[in-house]
Amino acid sequence: MNYPKITKIIETRKEAKDTKTILFKDSVEIIPGQFFMIWIPGVDEIPMSVSYIDKDIKGITFRKIGDATKALYNLKKDDKIGIRGPYGNGFKINGKNILFVGGGTGIAMIAPAVEKASYEKITSTVVLGVKNKDELFFEKKLQKTGAKIFVATDDGSKGDKGFATDLAEKMLNEHKFDSVLTCGPEIMMKKLHSLCNNIPFQASLERYMKCGFGICGQCCIGKGLRVCKDGPVFDGETLKNIEEFGKYKRDASGKKIPL
Ligand SMILES: Cc1cc2nc3c(=O)[nH]c(=O)nc-3n(C[C@H](O)[C@H](O)[C@H](O)COP(=O)(O)OP(=O)(O)OC[C@H]3O[C@@H](n4cnc5c(N)ncnc54)[C@H](O)[C@@H]3O)c2cc1C
Ligand code: FES
Repeated sequence: MNYPKITKIIETRKEAKDTKTILFKDSVEIIPGQFFMIWIPGVDEIPMSVSYIDKDIKGITFRKIGDATKALYNLKKDDKIGIRGPYGNGFKINGKNILFVGGGTGIAMIAPAVEKASYEKITSTVVLGVKNKDELFFEKKLQKTGAKIFVATDDGSKGDKGFATDLAEKMLNEHKFDSVLTCGPEIMMKKLHSLCNNIPFQASLERYMKCGFGICGQCCIGKGLRVCKDGPVFDGETLKNIEEFGKYKRDASGKKIPL
């Protein structure tokens, strides 16, 4: 499991501006919220959440931002990549009424969690937050689950004008949720955490990763916790004690980068 399995890409899909999904054959069982380490030969190996979970097919959805994601974006059907994993804990999906909040590429890993909730007949409300309408993806895919979908854009080009947290705050004031699950920019998740008070809360964190399975220490966030092994999903109580949550992350050398 801890070395890359070479696999052929069976399909690529453009989802939004600079955002693509890559699908490949894999019959491993996945919990929504888990991730793979994806090896792009000759370029890099990077963590990617699982965005598509089917019995024999899995997928990742990403935005091109640097060398690795640009190379991944240019790959085509039948090109080869290496896959390690799945790693991490994933979301705990329970309760009768869940609020999901996905921001930016965080929407990718929220999608399989919403699908699982729908399969388990849990009522789901989903807030999708993006900068503008061109960056929105998975809206139709999520509508098919029967979840109530709400969109917020920073510039007002689709849905409510404002941040996902503004829309989520409105939902939290108007409805009773058994839990709130989120993935997106850490500043967004920090604000949402502060809005949730006594509601069970789970957030998926991103930190620079090298091994992906808990041995190198690269992704430590204090209190003996490693994002790759003890996360990437952490509950609200644990996050209260993580000093760096919403404040800073670290680069590959361990240097603090303010968020
Ligand atoms: C558990 C996890 C799940 C993720 N899932 C997704 C996803 O579903 N979709 C998506 O678009 N992005 C996802 N990311 C982020 C993705 O891994 C980075 O955007 C990617 O590594 C950037 O690489 P790059 O060479 O294109 O960009 P670079 O220009 O090298 O880096 C851009 C940013 O990505 C971060 N980054 C670079 N290398 C790594 C690394 N090895 N580990 C963690 N962060 C890194 C950098 O710190 C920097 O902030 C996830 C990250 C983690 C930790
Ligand atoms: S990436 Fe090595 S311990 Fe987490």
